[in-house]
Amino acid sequence: MKLAVVGGGSTYTPELIDGFARLRDTLPIEELVLVDPAADRLELVGGLARRIFAKQGHPGRIVTTSDVDAGVADADAVLLQLRVGGQAARQQDETWPLECGCVGQETTGAGGLAKALRTVPVVLDIAERVRRTNPNAWIIDFTNPVGIVTRALLQAGHKAVGLCNVAIGFQRKFAAHLGVDPAQVHLDHVGLNHLTWELGARVGGPEGENVLPKLLAEHGEAIAADLHMPQTIVDRLGVVPSYYLRYYYQHDAVVRELRTKPSRAAEVAAMEAELLTMYGDPALDEKPELLAKRGGAFYSEAAVDLAASLLGGGGSPYQVVNTRNNGTLPFLPDDAVIEVQASVDGTGATPLAVPALDPLFSGLIANVTAYEDLALHAALHGGRDRVFKALLAHPLVGQYEYAEKLTDDLVAHNREHLAWA
Ligand code: G6P
Ligand code: MN
Repeated sequence: MKLAVVGGGSTYTPELIDGFARLRDTLPIEELVLVDPAADRLELVGGLARRIFAKQGHPGRIVTTSDVDAGVADADAVLLQLRVGGQAARQQDETWPLECGCVGQETTGAGGLAKALRTVPVVLDIAERVRRTNPNAWIIDFTNPVGIVTRALLQAGHKAVGLCNVAIGFQRKFAAHLGVDPAQVHLDHVGLNHLTWELGARVGGPEGENVLPKLLAEHGEAIAADLHMPQTIVDRLGVVPSYYLRYYYQHDAVVRELRTKPSRAAEVAAMEAELLTMYGDPALDEKPELLAKRGGAFYSEAAVDLAASLLGGGGSPYQVVNTRNNGTLPFLPDDAVIEVQASVDGTGATPLAVPALDPLFSGLIANVTAYEDLALHAALHGGRDRVFKALLAHPLVGQYEYAEKLTDDLVAHNREHLAWA
């Protein structure tokens, strides 16, 4: 089995390697190719990756290259984890929206739109190269914004599934509260990428008893603290929102907070510099503790699980993924991409049925889906007017004046990444 990771020079990669090494019985990789345009990072990350495999006795070969075509050739699955423009572009996304009193965030709101516009053309180009050399390869997309990027891939006819670690994070936390193995916890996870709610938590599988009310009664304080939300919000909802819902339910408070502190991009850039220095140490042969401070902690476990199932092996029967709606949420178009539990096998992901949703959730999901549709149009076809319409449709922007200003700011800050600007 051969896997390629595009964006393999990411400081996150040792997390992935650690997962591949620990879970090698589930996913027996013979060759792993790390593809990245940054040769210096690739050397540091590749070196550590080989030491992690060697220490854990993984027999797989790790290859590094900056040549996408050579790297993805004959791969059975290609993982996409790239960031166009790096942390510098993220820093911009997190900053200019604040001037309008709008949240500055890498995937939510105007910053997320900027990221989508930079990213979709690059990802589609890579996917095309994958299809040319190996039309059967699966594309696993971690590249944010995952919902929009996955929709772009599926609309272009690629074999793609989108992935995020939010659900696996809840699964681990709930399992710890319940004192059971995380694999035992089945989440009733519904929504769009970075706009989800855990409507239930079941032990043993989709038919298990819903223990979420009990979890909230006994551990509500800890669960809310993890989300950086007041417990009253969680109690009033009666379900567990992802921490990205903070940007909606507490929008103005978050904006005030973001204005007073360094951006997450700046924090991450500092961590990345520290991590790269550590990776250069030939004595380091495991994933450093510092990586646990990144939002993507444990994403490797979700990746291994998904790749194993798609490649016909022994992943979990049900997994939370981003995939085509196909009527699962009847109030959305069939080609919308939703994030739900799905059964996954060599033919792909098939969403499990979702009971009718309370308008409290379906309203926001429908609104953000409409925004994502317009955002994808803007990413594919360019043009100031398409950007403006996507912003006007976004529930966190919505006002004419703000949409105009944010459009100008987005274009001004992203000219070098937008072919049409
Ligand atoms: C979570 C999200 C990812 C996102 C990450 C950011 O894991 O699910 O989609 O990329 O957080 O983490 P960072 O450490 O870069 O802020
Ligand atoms: Mn995510």
